[in-house]
Amino acid sequence: MSKFIVAGGKPLRGKVKINGAKNSVLPIIAACLLADGKSIIDEVPNLEDVNVMCDILEAMGVAIKRDYKNRRLEIEVSEKVDTYAPYSLVSRLRASFLILGPILAREGRVTISMPGGCAIGTRPVDLHLKGFTAMGAEIQKDKGVLNAHVTGKLAGSVIYLDFPSVGATENILMASVLADGKTVIENAASEPEIADLAAFLNAMGAHINGAGTDTITIEGVKYLKGVRHTIIPDRIEAGTFMAAAAITGGDLVLENVVSGHLKPILAKLKECGMEISEELSTIHLKSPGRPEPIDIKTLPFPGFPTDMQAQISSVMSISTGTSIIIETIFENRFMHFGELKRMGAEVKVDGRSAVIEGKSKLTGAQVKATDLRAGAALVIAALAAEGSTEIDNIEHIDRGYVDMDKRLNSIGAGIHRVD
Ligand code: EPZ
Repeated sequence: MSKFIVAGGKPLRGKVKINGAKNSVLPIIAACLLADGKSIIDEVPNLEDVNVMCDILEAMGVAIKRDYKNRRLEIEVSEKVDTYAPYSLVSRLRASFLILGPILAREGRVTISMPGGCAIGTRPVDLHLKGFTAMGAEIQKDKGVLNAHVTGKLAGSVIYLDFPSVGATENILMASVLADGKTVIENAASEPEIADLAAFLNAMGAHINGAGTDTITIEGVKYLKGVRHTIIPDRIEAGTFMAAAAITGGDLVLENVVSGHLKPILAKLKECGMEISEELSTIHLKSPGRPEPIDIKTLPFPGFPTDMQAQISSVMSISTGTSIIIETIFENRFMHFGELKRMGAEVKVDGRSAVIEGKSKLTGAQVKATDLRAGAALVIAALAAEGSTEIDNIEHIDRGYVDMDKRLNSIGAGIHRVD
C-alpha cells in the first residue's frame, strides 16, 4: 500500500486550479449509454474511479478513447450494448450501479451485481429499484446478482423518493428520458451534479425540467444523440483545498470554481473566521490564524455536504473552542476521528454526533486512510501538525483527488509519496 509522509507546519500559499467533478463525470459516463454515436466529455479528471467506470463500459462493448492529457473522453456507443456488467469490475466501484437505468432504458434488460456496502455505510439501493419498478421493470435478485427487465419500453410514472438520494435521482432520471410518457421525481436530490447530468441529457435531446430542485419532470423522447459536454468543477475538491488553507494559516486562490455550488462550505468557513472574496469562477481565501469553533450538521444540498464533514472536522480539531458535528447522511462516517485522536485531537463521538475540543496543536503520527474523504481529512490535519505524519492506504485518496500530493506541494506543502 502506498503512503504519504507529510512534514507539517507550512502555510499553503499560491494558486490551484480545480478539476472537473468526480461525482458529475461518473453518472455522465453512464448516460452516454443512452445514445448511439459519439459523445465527447471535457474537463474529465484522471481518477481511479473514472477509469473503472470506463473499463465497465468497454467490457460491455462501448469504445472509449481516454485522452487525459487534454482531460477528455470520447465515448462511442454502437447499436448493440451488452446487458451483463462484469462482477469483477462492478464490485470495484459502487457508482457502477448507475449503468442500470441507462441500459434498462436502452436494451430493456440488464444483469448487474448488487453493490456492496462500503466503509461509510450500508448504502442500500431500494429507492433506485422503487423507481424502476414504478416504471414497469420486473426485478429479481439472486445470490447478489440483480436481473431487471421490462417488456417493451419503460413507462413514465410519478416517483416519490423517501430520501433525496443522489444516486437514485440520477438512475431514475436516466431511465426516464427514453420512457413512454411523463415521469415526475418528487423529493429529488438537488445537488449541482444532478443539474449537470440533466444539462448533458437535454443537450442529447431529452426533455427535462426542474433539475436542481426537489421536483424533476421528464417527458420521454424516442431518441438521443451523442454530444460534447464540459463537466462542472468539483465543489468537494475545492472545499478540501480551502480546508487545507484554513488549517495551515494559508492564503490561497482557487481557479475554475462555481461559487454558487460552494455556498454552504463558504458560509461555514467564513463563520470560523476565514477571509473569503468571491468572483465568478475564482475564490480567494485567507486564514487569519487559528479558526473559531463552529457547529456542522450535514444535510442534502443546499445543506452542508457530507463529503466535506471529515475535512472540516480536521480544521475544527485546532479551533479555539468546542465544535459539534452531526452527520445525518451516512451511519458510519466518523472513522477519521480514530486516526485524528492519534494526532492529539480531542473528540467525543456519540452515534452520529461528535464534540471536538479544539487544541492549540496536533502532533504528527502514523495514521491510515479508511475511505476517500477520511483520507483527505488526515492530509489536512498532517499539513498543520507538528513534525512528520505517515498516512497509509492512500489509494483511497487517489480515487477522488488527482495528484493531491503534487498539487499541495505546488502551494507550499511538504508531502512525499512512497509507493
Ligand atoms: C453520492 O453517493 C456521492 N457519490 C457520494 O460521494 C455522496 O456522499 C452522496 O451522494 C451524498 O451526497 C457519487 O455521486 C458517485 P445517496 P450516493 O444515494 O448516490 C440512503 C464521495 O465521497 N439511500 O444520496 O450513493 C443512503 O443509505 C462519495 O465522493 C437509501 O436509503 O448517495 C444514504 O444514507 C461518498 N436508499 C443516503 O441515502 C437508496 O436507494 C445518501 O445516499 C439510496 C440511498
